[in-house]
Amino acid sequence: MAALLGAIIPAQGRKTPKKISRETVTVPSVTPQVIAVKTSHTQLILQVDGRGTLQTLHYGAPAGDPSQFMDFHFGGNHNFGAPTAYPAAGGTFNGQEALHVLYPDGSQNTELYYLGHESAAQGGVITTTIHLKDYVTGLEVDLVYEAHQVEDVILMHSVIRNAGKKPVQLRNFASSSLNLVADNYLLTHFHGGWATEMQMEQTLLTHDTKVLESRRGTQNTQGNNPSFLLTLDRNFSETSGEVVAGALAWSGNFRISFEIDQSDRLNIVSGISPFASSYPLAAGDSFTTPDMVYTWSNEGAGGVSRNLHRWARSYGVWNGGNVNPTLLNSWEGAYFSFTTETLLRMIDDAAEMGLEMFVLDDGWFGLEHPRNDDKAGLGDWEVNINKIPEGIDFVASYAHSKGLKFGIWIESEMVNPDSNLAQEHPDWIVQSPGREIYQSRNQWILDLSNPAVQDFVFGVFDRTVSLSPNIDYIKWDSNRRIMSFGSPYLGQEQDRFFVEYMQGLYKVFARVREKYPDIAIQCCSAGGSRVDYGSLRWFNEFWTSDNTDAISRVRIQYGTSLIYPACAMASHVSAVPNHQTNNVTSLKFRFDVACAGRLGMELQPKSLSAEERAMADRCIKSYKGYRDLVFNGDLYRISSPYDGDYYSLMYVSEDRRRAVLFCYCMRFQNHSIGSHVFRLQGLDPSLRYKITEQNADKSCWWGNGQTFEGAFLCEGGFNPCFREANTSAIFVLESL
Ligand code: GLA
Repeated sequence: MAALLGAIIPAQGRKTPKKISRETVTVPSVTPQVIAVKTSHTQLILQVDGRGTLQTLHYGAPAGDPSQFMDFHFGGNHNFGAPTAYPAAGGTFNGQEALHVLYPDGSQNTELYYLGHESAAQGGVITTTIHLKDYVTGLEVDLVYEAHQVEDVILMHSVIRNAGKKPVQLRNFASSSLNLVADNYLLTHFHGGWATEMQMEQTLLTHDTKVLESRRGTQNTQGNNPSFLLTLDRNFSETSGEVVAGALAWSGNFRISFEIDQSDRLNIVSGISPFASSYPLAAGDSFTTPDMVYTWSNEGAGGVSRNLHRWARSYGVWNGGNVNPTLLNSWEGAYFSFTTETLLRMIDDAAEMGLEMFVLDDGWFGLEHPRNDDKAGLGDWEVNINKIPEGIDFVASYAHSKGLKFGIWIESEMVNPDSNLAQEHPDWIVQSPGREIYQSRNQWILDLSNPAVQDFVFGVFDRTVSLSPNIDYIKWDSNRRIMSFGSPYLGQEQDRFFVEYMQGLYKVFARVREKYPDIAIQCCSAGGSRVDYGSLRWFNEFWTSDNTDAISRVRIQYGTSLIYPACAMASHVSAVPNHQTNNVTSLKFRFDVACAGRLGMELQPKSLSAEERAMADRCIKSYKGYRDLVFNGDLYRISSPYDGDYYSLMYVSEDRRRAVLFCYCMRFQNHSIGSHVFRLQGLDPSLRYKITEQNADKSCWWGNGQTFEGAFLCEGGFNPCFREANTSAIFVLESL
């Protein structure tokens, strides 16, 4: 009946189907071979099978002769058994795809076959590029694997090339696909909101799909961070067991998706989220996806974090590992209410306390629309001479005359409706025709897909720096996500918007760095809403969170430390009651938490008592003595703030002769039992270490100044004798 109706009433608007030709394109056969991407302690083993399909056999420890995987490991049928290395929608494939292409004739099948590969070594990095091709459509894909030898990190991305004659639409265009085989997969990932960044969550993956995603456009790491740890076991361990860590180097919408198939194998597809981004690729054009940063270790979460940190210090962070100065930031101490006098007195205090830089935060600009609160002025980057009549150079030079560096805040991607810029360039604002342009923090967002806006945003940086030859540091902020998405510039090609916004921003970052390699830049986005390895290659550090409460910071910094290095983690001491949480903690506790990253202060120093000032001076002085370890040492986390009442971490020098240990008591419940013993890590068991407490106020610890064997400290343990909640201690360990 259905067939009869179909014959009588043709479907509206559908063309009569052409006679289908059953001729198929012949894929040339290839000689099977194995391609090994190796680092010092890891191997990613790929194989090309007889049909030319590229498959992933293994990622982890070196596993002997890879040919042994072929016949047994994947059930003997390796044409369909071993997972495809970069799965495309189509062919025999039914899993989650890394690539999905819509062709001009409406077809959506892609089958990628091996064409060839080559490797090139430069410094400590071996780059392997594998060329794949779809023989029906001519689409080509290069898979690029950058193996960082010493750090045991492999970066993976793809280059998708439309070698056909007509445009195609990329509907999914992931950076990488990785397959793992284990009995259990424990996923650790990081969620959060404003002031609660990098909160750790763990889940044992089950069959089907788990997705980490951002569709916010900007502020991509508020919500979920594009990173994870995967313990190949049921239980999380800092010290042992196989762990894979991944982090996508992209600051826009992302999607990391984990799927366990019928054979209990895990597939991880990571890349830009295809949300509202069916990306058009003209004939002859190619699209390069961002890097997915992978590492593996059999030394638990600690092992993968140390690998990532080492890689980040050398490659992932601008001037990573360089010591960034201690600083006083004006924000929580003055907010928008300051005059030149306020700033000069803060500079005096910062210099007296031994800090090394003063940063003038929000509020210094806007003349016709003065930035006296967050309702006006964004976009109008001229100095507000009603607040600072002498100008920025006067303040910056004053800071330099006191031996301090000088930094200043900008938020150049944004505009308040109450500004000259919004009136002059309404077409520069992200918007969708006929719809309200929603505000967030009273601001709109500029359309970075537009080259004129890119020039403007670069110009804001350029002009701000030219306000004084004494500007050493820029705090680059970005305080809202994208809503009502759309670009007046892109016209009909709105599919490009989310991707081109971020590419436009990256072009600006690249221009800034080309012209200003030596200016330190902090990546801020309402705190830590843009903490990812896409941005960090241009930035010296990031503002970890607007939450400066030491109690909250312990968890935020712990989560951050699983993926990102301490050298880039800005951490400030602020006033009590804390402005975000109302919690009250001692100044020493606040310092002891902030000193585990790049130390700064963010308060009005005049509000400190004489006793507190003395403590601040001591804490800053002692920090300078051990901060080289914070910036460049290996991090060992001893227990976790999620486990119980005590948390500790330590940084150990490469030669294991020096270390700094941070211990925190987050909750204290019982005087009648012995207090907590921390078993240290990373020390040389055969060395003796002298232990010196830093910033001590009323230490009750019995061992200050004594020496102990590394073996004792690691196996016997170390008891700082805490007797109260929210107390802490810092110890420097030096081998004799
Ligand atoms: C954001 C930043 C803060 C501060 C304010 C200024 O919230 O995270 O540190 O710079 O903007 O408006």
